[in-house]
Amino acid sequence: MVTLDDDATRITERRFARMQPFGGRGPAPVDQRSLPPGPRWPMILQSIGLLRFRHQFVLWLHRRYGDVFTVRILGGRPLVLFTRPEHAKEIFAGDPEIFHAGKGNSILGPIMGQHSLLLQDSVEHKRARKLLMPAFNGHALREYQSLVAELAREEVGRWQSGSDFRSLERMNALTLEVILRVVFGVSDEARLAQLRPCVNATVDVSPAVLLGWGYPWLQRFGPWKRTVANQYALDRLMYAEIRERREATDLAERTDVLSRLMLVGAEEGDALDDTELRDQLVTLLLAGHETTASALSWALYEIGRSPELLARTQTAVDEGDDVWLDAVLKESMRLHPIIPMVVRTLMKPATIGGVDLPAGATVGPSIIVSHQRSESHPDPEVFRPERFLGQNPPTNTWIPFGGGVRRCIGAGFSLMEGVAVLREVFSRYAVAAVGDDVPKVRNITSVPRDGARIRVTARH
Ligand code: HEM
Repeated sequence: MVTLDDDATRITERRFARMQPFGGRGPAPVDQRSLPPGPRWPMILQSIGLLRFRHQFVLWLHRRYGDVFTVRILGGRPLVLFTRPEHAKEIFAGDPEIFHAGKGNSILGPIMGQHSLLLQDSVEHKRARKLLMPAFNGHALREYQSLVAELAREEVGRWQSGSDFRSLERMNALTLEVILRVVFGVSDEARLAQLRPCVNATVDVSPAVLLGWGYPWLQRFGPWKRTVANQYALDRLMYAEIRERREATDLAERTDVLSRLMLVGAEEGDALDDTELRDQLVTLLLAGHETTASALSWALYEIGRSPELLARTQTAVDEGDDVWLDAVLKESMRLHPIIPMVVRTLMKPATIGGVDLPAGATVGPSIIVSHQRSESHPDPEVFRPERFLGQNPPTNTWIPFGGGVRRCIGAGFSLMEGVAVLREVFSRYAVAAVGDDVPKVRNITSVPRDGARIRVTARH
């Protein structure tokens, strides 16, 4: 007899067998001489610069080579980075048939799966995006709010007054719980207990493990072996949840993302199947968990560094002023971008900012440099939430969520979640930053190196 677990195992095997090489299939690598200026160092050094010292490196490249420069990285396509708002506008508005985003994310394929919104391009991306969008519109976000607030209250309620800790760790635990409960919609304690370690191991996967995926024999050893075993375990749990949910009689009343995704497209005969649902859920987990946690921990740290900002935030919370909390989050995403750049691979030659670029090049706005331009953000090194009060910075100067048809689908979700969490924290505690912190690269995202340590003291 074929069991549900056998089915899940077979689907996972097929996913592994279908993996594409890093960089994705696409136009051949380009003639390097035709690209904008950039360092002539060996690729290994440029890769280290970008991966290890990202923040200092791109700002230095901008000072040295100007508004458009090229970085060459090992195993990847040459990367042409743009830094002016009008460049970002051109890239975001670029024809999605020419400006492909999925190729640049292909390293995540073994984990996210081929149907992942992040990995698709062209008509497949358009279809998936259309099916996912309703679960992230304003109406849906309002329905997620109360559970997010409840989970935040439970987390914050466990903190000891007078203690200090790495806020990133607590925010990671909280945003993971939000994904499990609000996005996956799991409420069964036994299933949650099984899912947590698998989901933790999934988000912990390192680029080295993913880069080694091209060599299947590696999967018999150490971290590769553990990653494969974890993927099988995670998929078994995910498919069990998906199939049980399909049987639920209260699907239409449920307010989690998975239940919404199950209903969408059914009337037109274009619903997401089980494999598609699994791939999109793992994508939302990987895209939405640590990003939001990192933004939140920077926000706590920055408010904790200034008694004036702390007082202003506590007053805002007491008066129910969410606009200020929203501004705090946006400013922390500006000063500490979580994702360093947005990338597109050119399927045909294109001209950006007057620069002719060949097919096969990867292009993108540098979020780090865009957020540090003083003509867009005066005194760019200063944390000042007022920039976002009653106004927005000029278009394409604040781009933490990318833009165009690929703009982060979870942008509204993460701001809603962030405001709910800040409200819970500051209504109960005074927060003080402990020590100084700086960004460090963790996989694709940047996080506070010391975890944004804070000390909390009960207010009442
Ligand atoms: C502070 C939090 C977050 C940041 C900084 C962030 C940033 C980004 C960026 C820069 C992109 C690429 C956009 C582009 O290519 O133009 C992206 C895409 C995406 N994000 Fe987020 N994100 C965050 C939270 C979330 C959350 C909470 C979710 C879901 C629950 C999510 C799901 C996604 C998905 C599915 C995509 C792919 C969209 C597509 O290709 O159509 N993100 N995000």
